[in-house]
Amino acid sequence: MMVPYGLNWTLWMVACFGQYFGQELQFPKLTNGTVGQSVKLTANNTPPSTQIAILTWHFGINQIMSGPPDEPFIAPDYRGKVNFDKNTLALELYNLILEDSGSYILDVIPTSGSQLRGETTLQVFEKIDYVTLTGPHETLIEGESSANITSEGSGNITSVQWMKDNSPLSSSSRIIFSSDNRSVSISPVERSDTGEYQCTYSNPVSSETAKLTLIINYGPDGVSIEGPDVVDLGVQVSLSCSANSEPSASFSWTFNGSDTGVTTDKYTIDKTDFTDSGEYICTAFNRVTQKRESHRHALLVQEGGETGLGGGLSAGAIAGIVIGVAVAVGGICGLIIYLTKNNKIPNLRLQQKGQANRATQRGQEPDLHYEEINGSQNARENIMNLEKISEAQMYENVAYKSEYENLKHGVLNQPQALEPQVSNPPPVCR
Ligand SMILES: *[C@@H]1O[C@H](CO)[C@@H](O)[C@H](O)[C@H]1NC(C)=O
Ligand SMILES: *[C@@H]1O[C@H](CO)[C@@H](O)[C@H](O)[C@H]1NC(C)=O
Ligand SMILES: *[C@@H]1O[C@H](CO)[C@@H](O)[C@H](O)[C@H]1NC(C)=O
Ligand SMILES: *[C@@H]1O[C@H](CO)[C@@H](O)[C@H](O)[C@H]1NC(C)=O
Ligand SMILES: *[C@@H]1O[C@H](CO)[C@@H](O)[C@H](O)[C@H]1NC(C)=O
Repeated sequence: MMVPYGLNWTLWMVACFGQYFGQELQFPKLTNGTVGQSVKLTANNTPPSTQIAILTWHFGINQIMSGPPDEPFIAPDYRGKVNFDKNTLALELYNLILEDSGSYILDVIPTSGSQLRGETTLQVFEKIDYVTLTGPHETLIEGESSANITSEGSGNITSVQWMKDNSPLSSSSRIIFSSDNRSVSISPVERSDTGEYQCTYSNPVSSETAKLTLIINYGPDGVSIEGPDVVDLGVQVSLSCSANSEPSASFSWTFNGSDTGVTTDKYTIDKTDFTDSGEYICTAFNRVTQKRESHRHALLVQEGGETGLGGGLSAGAIAGIVIGVAVAVGGICGLIIYLTKNNKIPNLRLQQKGQANRATQRGQEPDLHYEEINGSQNARENIMNLEKISEAQMYENVAYKSEYENLKHGVLNQPQALEPQVSNPPPVCR
């Protein structure tokens, strides 16, 4: 009763739905293979071979093999090319070529029950190989150069991915990928573009990565000097200069406009002297970008805190200073009278203003940043000229000059009344 019923049922199904009843053998939808290698097409729900009457493997419309599991007939084209596993019904294909890509179908007619069918699509890929990156050969300078990185490689490339320093490289207004993603153009380059670029070609069966390092030269910029503004007499002091630069900048130092011969980032004074007071300029130079940038730092050497004026100087010296200051005040009054008579008073005011400004700078903002050395040199020359004039006019006497030096360094612990007279000529003089 059962067999005729089953057969009848099958015939009815074939009549209604075509050749087979669509009960499925479960294969992966896609199977991936590599040229030259082998692949096994396996379903995960095949019935035991003892319950199978006939099975057939097709490639598209071509029959690969057919018959009972124990002794199937293998089509002449596939002899030596395939192996059949009667336990799993898996078909193994050897020595794959691109043309093996396509749809593989397994039909199973069991000894009882309905026909089963399963299908998988095999994609055969050429393995990816020989991936290389080619970058610019010329030196790259920030803001000036552009860089193209081009990739090449063999095999079936289904995806191209770019990374920089192990993070995905994304496109931007400066970073543009070609339409096939195989090259990237960076224009203009920035310092942040320095790093290791990785390009990965991949397909479902293989991937390969090539690497290329780009170095963007830049700077110097952000030049700065670390060090004290005011330092005691007789101690060691260092000013150290730094700059953002690739390659590392070389340094040079001037003191009051004269080259010091120091070419290290650090300028060290072993034992400070009053003559070390003045303006230090550090210039950073980048030999690749051929750019330079400077920074200046004012240093003031003062009498040590503990050995102040009272302790360090004899009574005679103090007397001398007091007299000297008195004479200096007299001299200033005389000079003012002279200048007033000769209509030169605006000039003197200018000088005083200059002094006052620099006094404030010393206190508040001793460091000025120069983008352009030329500008700074002019400014410095102007200050120095001003100084020469004022010193020549006001302090011919050497004694006066040393007092003036002390005053400038702000160390004179003189009776309070004297200081305003020096920095601010009293009305009585006019
Ligand atoms: C084959 O590759 C495809 C991508 O093309 C993937 O989705 C699929 O899972 C792969 N199949 C197997 C069996 O690995
Ligand atoms: C980079 O490639 C683009 C187009 O692909 C080209 O116009 C440009 O000149 C190239 N730049 C360099 C530096 O090779
Ligand atoms: C792989 O590359 C070959 C040519 O090298 C091409 O004919 C074939 O269609 C490609 N296969 C796939 C899956 O892209
Ligand atoms: C190029 O890569 C981007 C992501 O990096 C991706 O979105 C895009 O589809 C890729 N284009 C091609 C043609 O592969
Ligand atoms: C350096 O310049 C400063 C003023 O900026 C001046 O006070 C000092 O005397 C100068 N020193 C030398 C040694 O020229």
